[in-house]
Amino acid sequence: MESDWSARHGFLYVAAFPEEEREAAALELKAMTGTALEGGVARSSVACDVGASAYTKIVMAVAAEAESFEELVGLVADLGLEAEGFAVEVHRPPPKVDVSSIDCAKEIADAIAGNPDLDHPKIALAVVAKEGRYWFGRVVSRARRDWHDASERPENFSNSLPTRLARALVNMVAAPGDLVVDPCCGAGTAVVEAALVGAKVEGYDLNWLHVEQTRKNLEHYGLKVRAAKGDARELEGRWDAAVIDLPYGHTSVADDQLYLDVVGNVARRVKRLAVVTGHEKDYVWDRLGLAIRGRAKVPATRLVRHLYLLGGTPEA
Ligand SMILES: C[S@@+](CC[C@H](N)C(=O)[O-])C[C@H]1O[C@@H](n2cnc3c(N)ncnc32)[C@H](O)[C@@H]1O
Repeated sequence: MESDWSARHGFLYVAAFPEEEREAAALELKAMTGTALEGGVARSSVACDVGASAYTKIVMAVAAEAESFEELVGLVADLGLEAEGFAVEVHRPPPKVDVSSIDCAKEIADAIAGNPDLDHPKIALAVVAKEGRYWFGRVVSRARRDWHDASERPENFSNSLPTRLARALVNMVAAPGDLVVDPCCGAGTAVVEAALVGAKVEGYDLNWLHVEQTRKNLEHYGLKVRAAKGDARELEGRWDAAVIDLPYGHTSVADDQLYLDVVGNVARRVKRLAVVTGHEKDYVWDRLGLAIRGRAKVPATRLVRHLYLLGGTPEA
């Protein structure tokens, strides 16, 4: 008998994030899939590709759902599933329930006919365990988790974005194939991440030393991307999306007029816009007539980053 792996209970997204990046994780998932993250998971009737995601780990087609693990095992057994060369992985999104992942995987495997193959699984199955809610199903999309730690890059500076956050920012506004601009690119963290997810990207910075840093980082990954000196207040062109990590923090000159001029110029030229500042700047976006479509606060060691998804202007 053919096993029925269809998503009879819809799809479940499972995220993993450091607690301080919870809001960024929720914003990334919402932007990529339209679903809201609650306690590390999100339900949806559709499965999106999360290969490039910074925070979403897997998407699962849910075959069974229960209030206790024992009930879940019974439901899985009742489904009469057969699989050859399968592996069962167990996810415990935060706050973590106190169950043994190995025991859970074994019990579920015993309820499925066929042989597991943990080394080279042909079919990936998953249990997701949360307090009072358990899901079982087949993994249909998985994050590659291929952003690289900043310490691997030849060039960084104190104001560089964490690479994972830069990946999330790219995902909030762009998909593979989109044309993306980073007009204040610094050492090029978001430029590299945009290129790695398959977007076409250009980076600009007022400071020639930062342009050179971006070029070295791109070269390190063998990425052929344009990085040039440019003033974000005067850039001309059209792009699908922009990621603007504005100057902020101890080492940067940051004032509202610069923000008005940079964001005002770029917003007219893109359809989707993600902006990062070191303070709440709602009144600046208000003056520019830009709606806030999403926001997240990300605390770091010496500052709190404020992420904004801003509406493009009508003529873009
Ligand atoms: C917060 S840093 C960007 C850091 C970058 N995202 C990274 O991860 O390395 C802001 C950058 O904006 C640049 N900048 C400041 N004013 C600018 C302007 N008018 N046009 C272009 N770049 C500008 C600064 O030189 C600085 O590199």
